Amino acid sequence: MKGIILAGGLGSRLNPLTKITNKHLLPVYNAPMIYYPIQCLVNAGIKDIMIVTGGNSAGDFLKLLENGREFGLKHLDYTYQQGEGGIAEALGLCEYFAKGESICVVLGDNIIEKNICKAVDDFRAQKDGAKVILKEVSDPERFGVPELDGDKILNIVEKPSSPKSSYAVTGIYMYDNTVFDIIKTLKPSDRGELEITDVNNAYIDKGNLTWCELEGWWTDADTFSSLLHANNLVADTGANNL
Ligand code: G1P
Repeated sequence: MKGIILAGGLGSRLNPLTKITNKHLLPVYNAPMIYYPIQCLVNAGIKDIMIVTGGNSAGDFLKLLENGREFGLKHLDYTYQQGEGGIAEALGLCEYFAKGESICVVLGDNIIEKNICKAVDDFRAQKDGAKVILKEVSDPERFGVPELDGDKILNIVEKPSSPKSSYAVTGIYMYDNTVFDIIKTLKPSDRGELEITDVNNAYIDKGNLTWCELEGWWTDADTFSSLLHANNLVADTGANNL
């Protein structure tokens, strides 16, 4: 399984912090934000990793991460997303990197307390389809929200005004290689982006989306309050503890 970290976009919710640099290079307590998703993949045994960047200071990723030596990696792959076409568009740029394999995708601003080892192992055993990781939150309207029926997800709605559950679909996704065919069929949403939620709903329609619940805390870091929250969580307990 290959790993993909999506670290593009203009980070406009954090303007002016992101006026001259990329959101994922901002500090979260004692490390640049991008360190956390890399460590998350490495902890799950995924060492073949591509970073999709874009926006401001894209070249600084190379300067900061080099070939990933700090994470015990021999090599890192990079690609560039022009503009703000959305998470699914960024993922579509990785087809040549995936080379027919399944992938684990982590959004560059998602930080977790523990690890995703069990979810990754379960997905390896699943063979095809997709898997999402859910977390109960107090503000589901900020996220993709699943409607659940027992252990089935009926559908996912992106940033619903009336959420059908108190779960967020976290920015950690596992897909078989058909994800790239699905992305080619997507149309831009109202915010002008190719939505990862539409990709997940396509797997629901095919009846092969599974889910699990994340242990430990989870946060994103793309608003002033969530960035502050992320800093405090990492300062209090550390992130990516196995
Ligand atoms: C994205 C996804 C959303 C998901 C969230 C997790 O939202 O579209 O479904 O719940 O990441 O961080 P964004 O924050 O990019 O709008």
